[in-house]
Amino acid sequence: MATVLSVSGSPSATSRTARLLRHLDARLTAQGHEVIPLDVRTIPAEALLGADFGHPAITEASALFDRADASVIGTPVYKAAYSGLLKSLLDLLPQYGLTGKTVLPLATGGSTAHVLAIDYALRPVLSSMGAAHIVQGWFTLDKDITVGDDGTLTVAPGPAEALAQVVDRFSEALGSRTALLAAAG
Ligand SMILES: Cc1cc2nc3c(=O)[nH]c(=O)nc-3n(C[C@H](O)[C@H](O)[C@H](O)COP(=O)(O)O)c2cc1C
Repeated sequence: MATVLSVSGSPSATSRTARLLRHLDARLTAQGHEVIPLDVRTIPAEALLGADFGHPAITEASALFDRADASVIGTPVYKAAYSGLLKSLLDLLPQYGLTGKTVLPLATGGSTAHVLAIDYALRPVLSSMGAAHIVQGWFTLDKDITVGDDGTLTVAPGPAEALAQVVDRFSEALGSRTALLAAAG
């Protein structure tokens, strides 16, 4: 199956976005994909903010994008768009760093006013980087994601069902693409 890089762009140490992604990673893993988690907040700030293209953490992140067949790109909505942290990494990747990749964009936010942030803000960036196929994304309200004292994540039933569907469609798209590439030799 496919290798999927699952990227959380939240700077928060208690990020709901990151927890949601790790929860969805398990679903992709169960479907046979190799999932590599990447939390952008673990990359040294001086590399991201100093545009240090040669920093080992940046070259390593870039190599992960290169190796993956696909990416889940998750971000909290900040000021009606993606987080600056996510953009600081994307800005250091090659101009067409998503060429040939299938991408699932996901966002969490506090207001339905910004439910379209994926489509008007994130999707154009991913497209400009050459993504071959950006599947339907999903915006989840932060109040629908709860984390128990033991760290267990619960997503409200409606959004949980919708997320499962977008993940399954992403997984199907990966399956078709892998089959096509295998057929092409
Ligand atoms: C600096 C900041 C700006 C935010 N701006 C927005 C916004 O414009 N629209 C929105 O719906 N939510 C906004 N939020 C709420 C977050 O998107 C939301 O709580 C999200 O789930 C946080 O994800 P995280 O826990 O992964 O960081 C903002 C939060 C912060 C801290």
